[in-house]
Amino acid sequence: MKKDLLTLRDLSADDCEALFRRSFELKKRHAAAISDQTLQGKTLGLIFDKPSTRTRVSFEAAMVQLGGVPLFMNAQDTQLIRNEPIADTARVLSRYMDGLVVRTYSQDLLEELGAASSIPIINGLTDLYHPCQVLSDLMTILEIRKNLEGVKIVWVGDGNNVCHSWLNAAAILPLNLVIACPEGYQPDEAILEAAVKDSQGSVVVLSDPREAVRDADVIYTDVWASMGHESEHALRKNVFKPYQVSQGLVALAKQDVVVMHCLPAHRGEEIAADVLEGTNSIVWDQAENKMHMHKAILERFISGGFFVKGD
Ligand code: CP
Ligand code: NVA
Repeated sequence: MKKDLLTLRDLSADDCEALFRRSFELKKRHAAAISDQTLQGKTLGLIFDKPSTRTRVSFEAAMVQLGGVPLFMNAQDTQLIRNEPIADTARVLSRYMDGLVVRTYSQDLLEELGAASSIPIINGLTDLYHPCQVLSDLMTILEIRKNLEGVKIVWVGDGNNVCHSWLNAAAILPLNLVIACPEGYQPDEAILEAAVKDSQGSVVVLSDPREAVRDADVIYTDVWASMGHESEHALRKNVFKPYQVSQGLVALAKQDVVVMHCLPAHRGEEIAADVLEGTNSIVWDQAENKMHMHKAILERFISGGFFVKGD
């Protein structure tokens, strides 16, 4: 029976644990130039309806390095834009490939694809969620802190798709999550409520970013206007000004706080250039880890298991 990764709520704490373990192992093996051909003979489709650098390339590189073949499709070049039903597309692609990473606007469309396909569908970002991003971000935090318990993670900015996946993560893992958003830009109420209800640690929403980052171990930010909201950019720039992750804000957190950003970043907007390039920033390691985590995800969802060290 195939399994999809449409939101982090599709995973248990044990699934996450296994993904973390395997991604660390794969990272070590990559550094030692050990090649794992665990997905030999497999084909991964990628259908993207929004731009991407990291997610697309890290999934493609992951697939190639594991001996499989990635096949990228711009959604605009497919019959989807001429209204071929999603279910038909899903059924046909299921006959050609072993898995599909999809980046699109609507989470419903992804659900429809998942329901109609016989291959695993992996969410490569929708308007609502970005689960693979948060899995690799958690790996990056674990690399530094070794444990998630007691780590104060503060989201500063828009209550957007990445923020929603953080909330989902807090419902399955023992996170101490604080979210600071301006009025009117808080996360989706139902997603927040579910996270608070199922929280394995604590979930708090505040409006004051200065109060939120006090004693933070991790400060995380993202663009103020996500893909699809570009027309609101000017308005949002005004609203979000007090939420910039500046040196002043970072100084209120723990001295060894790490600053994270899923990228692409807008220097001088959600993050000051000197913070992004500064000693607290771990954004480049964070970006690298997407590839290692994506390998673990592909092994798990395409092969249905992890391969133990072979040699
Ligand atoms: N972080 C992230 O998803 O980046 P891309 O939009 O470049 O894929
Ligand atoms: N929230 C951002 C994430 C980009 C990786 C967006 O959706 O544009």
